[in-house]
Amino acid sequence: MNPKAPGSVVFENVRKSFGAFTAIPDLSLTIEPGTLVTLLGPSGCGKTTTLRMLAGLEHPSSGRILIGGKDVTMLPANERDVSMVFQSYALFPHMTALDNVAYGLESSGMKRKEAREKAENALSLVGLAGMGVRLPAELSGGQQQRVAVARALVVEPQVLLLDEPLSNLDARLRRRVRTDIRELQQRLGFTAVYVTHDQDEALAVSDRIIVMKDGGIAQQGAPRELYDAPASAFIADFMGEANVMPCDIIEVDGDSATIAIEGLRHKVNGRSVKRGPAQLAVRPNAITLTPRRDDSPFNGQIVHSAYLGDHVEYEVQTERGSLFVVDTTVDAALPPRTDVAIAFKDRGIAVIGG
Ligand SMILES: Nc1ncnc2c1ncn2[C@@H]1O[C@H](COP(=O)(O)OP(=O)(O)O)[C@@H](O)[C@H]1O
Ligand SMILES: [Mg+2]
Repeated sequence: MNPKAPGSVVFENVRKSFGAFTAIPDLSLTIEPGTLVTLLGPSGCGKTTTLRMLAGLEHPSSGRILIGGKDVTMLPANERDVSMVFQSYALFPHMTALDNVAYGLESSGMKRKEAREKAENALSLVGLAGMGVRLPAELSGGQQQRVAVARALVVEPQVLLLDEPLSNLDARLRRRVRTDIRELQQRLGFTAVYVTHDQDEALAVSDRIIVMKDGGIAQQGAPRELYDAPASAFIADFMGEANVMPCDIIEVDGDSATIAIEGLRHKVNGRSVKRGPAQLAVRPNAITLTPRRDDSPFNGQIVHSAYLGDHVEYEVQTERGSLFVVDTTVDAALPPRTDVAIAFKDRGIAVIGG
């Protein structure tokens, strides 16, 4: 397959209402050609609605949508250069895998022989060479998902849309199929918009992640940026677990800031922070616990500890509230009621606002 130039995607002040209910109040975003961008957010935040508007299955109440620079806002689905992989696969059960993949090409007027050649080709791309004769019911869930991906790719869209494409697969297959989708996207270089509510999946496959909340964008950036520098408690907690606690910013020096929690001082990324009270997000694995000494600056007491094979989980009571701590280094778990000194590692600590 020889995909045409991948398209960009632009939403300009898009609003979408269903009757009196506004699902998307005012959404603007840009997706660069050839990138895989994930819309991530809790159920009901507007991911599917956004994707359906891009596919032409819904139309905005106001605003504009551009694909590859072309205004498609009011174009029907079949006049847009996009294709969609649905959560349910939506394969025709009475048609073979090959016919399912060739269907779109044939119905747009391509000769049967050529359509079937292209379909064979697309099936080999997704690792299903020779499986074209099977009916969907004769394929595993993962294989059906690949057929759905092949069917979407065979028409060589400018943009591929995937709505929770792994949610019908069991946990072990999910990791495999998400890797395959990402590898295919990088190899062929198409633009992909990927929807999921699963942050691990988003971190694993994306060039960029757009975190949505209540029909708007809560934060967007590269996976690492969102994980390391969450802009709010919502993001910190959504992108993996985080302890959120009050601190004081006592010094800002260019890109670096010093925070204080009781006697503890710690340097953090100081980009766009001011002196004064703030909230700190601390990853559970960014905290170290050692037996308390007389001069320990920040202390707590272990309430629970649980040994889980490759790590120990603790709940620690402190003056700043209860902390959840994951320790992957300790050989012997510290027992409950141990008084501990609390310190932070370099990574996994971020100021999330005042
Ligand atoms: N056809 C519709 N009619 C009325 N409300 C809808 C319709 N489609 C979606 N919604 C509502 O819009 C909001 C966003 O839905 P959706 O985009 O499906 O969220 P997500 O995919 O993030 O779970 C939800 O509150 C949902 O109930
Ligand atoms: Mg959805």
